[in-house]
Amino acid sequence: MRHLMSPLDFSVEELDKLLKLACDIEKNPSRYANACQGKKLATCFYEPSTRTRLSFEAAMLNLGGSVLGFSSADSSSASKGESVSDTIRVISCYADICAMRHPKEGAPLVASQRSAIPVINAGDGGHQHPTQTLTDLMTIHSLKGHLGDLTIGLCGDLKFGRTVHSLIHALIRYPNIRFVLISPEELRVPGYIREDVLDKHNVPYEEVERLEDAMAKLDILYMTRVQRERFFNEEDYVRMKDFYILDKSKMALAKEDMLVLHPLPRVNEISVEVDDDPRAAYFRQAQYGVYVRMALILTLLEVEVC
Ligand code: NCD
Repeated sequence: MRHLMSPLDFSVEELDKLLKLACDIEKNPSRYANACQGKKLATCFYEPSTRTRLSFEAAMLNLGGSVLGFSSADSSSASKGESVSDTIRVISCYADICAMRHPKEGAPLVASQRSAIPVINAGDGGHQHPTQTLTDLMTIHSLKGHLGDLTIGLCGDLKFGRTVHSLIHALIRYPNIRFVLISPEELRVPGYIREDVLDKHNVPYEEVERLEDAMAKLDILYMTRVQRERFFNEEDYVRMKDFYILDKSKMALAKEDMLVLHPLPRVNEISVEVDDDPRAAYFRQAQYGVYVRMALILTLLEVEVC
């Protein structure tokens, strides 16, 4: 039985296979409409979510399966003090696969160690968010045609943004990847990622503070929200929250085929005037998230569709 805790849980070959499956699902959805009939997905969300939870649920429903779960810690027995280990042992009796989001780093991993069903990390604190990374990879692959030979700008809250951490881990396995890390000093990528991931694998990167200085060289601009819920005090958040605002004037500095990605939700970091720019790919990205989660559910449940 396999779980998904980090994007590195899949080899590059396995990821290729999963992305191919997701593309086939996109093209031939009816082939997969009954693939998970009789199977149940549990969504155990101890933190707020719109896209991740609903795209998981849509994915399972598109496969002909059913869904059950909770969308906040308050509405689960966590509010009575139950541990994730006990919760997952019980959920294992009710469902075939579980997607779990938790504010504590490592909680889905702890759950997976006690689980009788595959557990998917749907975001653990400021640590990892592997299914967003699968979504990001499918978006880049579908719209650019390849995952190597890219200069990727990661902009915003690179300290607490788990989507950025997972994406860096995943992308360094492809050839000729370069990063431009765009953040204020206080929200830089954590040292453990710079040293243990980027430096260790000799991945070229630079750190800049001004988005304008990076725009012209980017193939992908990955914008992120300042993660209010991970700040220790509100004043720091208020000081940081509007540090970056991508608008038409900044887009004018970018290549004609640069793509703007964002895991969403956006707050102010992308002005709505950018939404109509053909390079804005963040809503298409949310759609890819359904196909890739369908492919993931099929893979972890070992369901073959002929
Ligand atoms: C992201 C998350 O939860 O980390 N959202 C998502 O899953 N699409 C990004 C965010 O909340 O800023």
